[in-house]
Amino acid sequence: MTAAAEILRARAGAEPVEVALILGSGLGGLADAVDGVAVPYAELPGFPRATVSGHAGRMVIGRLEGRRVAVLAGRAHYYEGGGAAVMRPCLETLRALGTGTLILTNAAGSTREDLPPGSLVAIADHINLAGANPLIGIEDDSRFVDMVDAYDPALRARLRSLGLPEGVYAWFSGPSFETPAEIRMARLLGADLVGMSTVPECILARWLGIPVAAVSLVTNLAAGMSGTGLSHAETKREAAAAAARFEAVIRDFLRDRGA
Ligand code: HPA
Repeated sequence: MTAAAEILRARAGAEPVEVALILGSGLGGLADAVDGVAVPYAELPGFPRATVSGHAGRMVIGRLEGRRVAVLAGRAHYYEGGGAAVMRPCLETLRALGTGTLILTNAAGSTREDLPPGSLVAIADHINLAGANPLIGIEDDSRFVDMVDAYDPALRARLRSLGLPEGVYAWFSGPSFETPAEIRMARLLGADLVGMSTVPECILARWLGIPVAAVSLVTNLAAGMSGTGLSHAETKREAAAAAARFEAVIRDFLRDRGA
């Protein structure tokens, strides 16, 4: 049991969390839909201070579509300097709370014209191009985590049944966006989506034995694919524009009680 988990159980009750969600840039509004208790990260030992605008930094535990959920609005990224394991206390806390399913969400660039801005895409697999790993430094054999079917096949099937296409996500460290040459490389390597998060959290979840799925919201065509440059303002704007559809998909997922 982590100290944060004890605080959360004292405030929100001991009922295990069925589904946890980590919300990406601009997608934090879903936390407001939860009927429950909100705790700022600042009150949870080990939890990161989220420095990115569009990331609120609070955890809400309660009910959504009748399910016991924990929603983490705000994540810390590798590029914020806290290391690739910066989200480890959050993930360990979710496990301590009995989390049965973890849904990671993010804003991403798309390398495919047929996955334009506004698309919601289930992550089928990932490519770690950041070269970092949150398990570096762990000294027992638990560190050799199997990453075959890292994104749980049954959860992926449910997301496909809700109409989501699938794609491979490539993790770049950021915080600068990619160059057009890097995007051509990523596409050649089989990446459909590019982003700066999610992969270390997926690795941590697999290490902890939590089944994981992930949904990207495409906020832009990747670098060099459109006439314009990229910006975080665009990421937040596009995420806000798609927030209602994103919320509808998550609610559908929760209603369909397979998880
Ligand atoms: N690249 C990396 N991260 C992103 C992008 C992108 O194009 N869009 C939103 N997050």
